[in-house]
Order: sequence, then structure tokens, then C-alpha cells
Amino acid sequence: MKIETILSPSLFSQIEDIDKKVVVVIDILRATSTITTILANGASAVIPVKEESIAREYKSKGYLVGGERGGETIAGFDFGNSPFQYKKEIVFGQEVVLTTTNGTKCIEMASSAHQVVVGSFLNLESVVKYIKHLDKDVVLFAAGWQDRVNLEDSLFAGAIASSFARRDCDDATQMARDAYSVAEGNLFETLQNTNHFQRLASKGVTKDIEYCCEVNVISSVGVLKDGKISLVV
Ligand code: MLT
Repeated sequence: MKIETILSPSLFSQIEDIDKKVVVVIDILRATSTITTILANGASAVIPVKEESIAREYKSKGYLVGGERGGETIAGFDFGNSPFQYKKEIVFGQEVVLTTTNGTKCIEMASSAHQVVVGSFLNLESVVKYIKHLDKDVVLFAAGWQDRVNLEDSLFAGAIASSFARRDCDDATQMARDAYSVAEGNLFETLQNTNHFQRLASKGVTKDIEYCCEVNVISSVGVLKDGKISLVV
């Protein structure tokens, strides 16, 4: 198994033979952490959509719909992108539609992969176990922020990479791995000066960040199939 890391969506076109690879989409703050939580709370699927207008169409058909742009909840939607909004009693058994600034766009970009896995610190160990079991080359695809590299997604790529031999990791993966070795056990503190921490903190949702930094509190894994993310483990 070879591990490569794409630190920004602007580098996505560099991936070769994507149809033979497993892509782990990473948007730690907060899309992929929120999707992992929605599924762990019993939703039957999360339908990731890139465009707000498509999400609105689902809303008019009676779906539960969540979304944000720039960290702000989209007016008229049932939820924003805070994992705390998707309570068990609301999402259990439901298909939930989600559109976010970067994360859901990246899930759609990766959809031609052999398999698309949703990664978060919340289920780190289970994601590692699952991708090892698939035994295919892996792309760690960091959503970043509007094509810019961010620290939180890079650190998660590094966290995954630390379960693989260094010789199997490309240079970007090794950089991420070295960064994670400094931040491990200290995630929340490490992220304090990052751009998206400050963006979210200014909206008063620091508790979302604390939650997204929790490690191995969920044992299930979401995978994209036919446009919907549901649990495989
Ligand atoms: C995104 O997809 O860009 C993020 O998850 C933004 C957010 O924090 O809601």
C-alpha cells in the first residue's frame, strides 16, 4: 500500500489512477467530523452536495438539510455544520443532506475513486483499520480552506500516516506525519492559532473545535456509495 497526501483541492488533478485508489476525505473543522457524528447518531445516510441550490431542492422534497457557507448556517436550512445540532432523536433513521464550503465539494471531487472514506479524529483508529483491510493505495485528501492548505487537515493526514511505514509515504505525507508527531496529544492547543479556529471561535463555536479534536470516540466509518455516505463499519 502506498500513501499519498493531497494537501489542497488545487492539487487534486495530480492524482493518477484514482479509480484504483481509496481516497480519505479530510475536513476536520468541521464537515467530515460532522458527517461521522451524524452517522454515529443513527442517520441512515448523509447525502453530500456541492451546490446550495441542490440542497434547497432536497429541502423542498422534505429532507432534513444542513449547510454552511464561510462557517455561517445557510438561512432556511434545518442545521448548520455544528456536530451538536445533529441530535440522535432528530437524525435517527433519516437521510440528511449536507452542503459545506469545502468538505462536501471535496467528497464530490473524489467520487470516481475506488472508494471514498470519510475521515475524522473522532474515528481515527477505525478509519486506519478499514483502509488497511481494503489493501489498496491510499490518497489522504485534505479539503483545506478554499484551496489553501490548513493545519488541521494536514495533521489528520499525518495521524493516519503514522500507522504506515515511512517508506510507503510520499513527501507530503511524511511532512504531515512529522507535524502530527509534534501535535499528538495536544491537538486543541496546537490548532489555537490556525485560521479556521479563529474563524469558528469568532462565531462562538469553540466547543465544536474541542469536540472535533477528540480522538477515537466513534468506532464506525462512513463510505460514499452512489452519492450517499453510509456506515460500513
Ligand atoms: C467546510 O466544509 O468548509 C467546513 O466544514 C466549514 C465549517 O467549519 O463549517
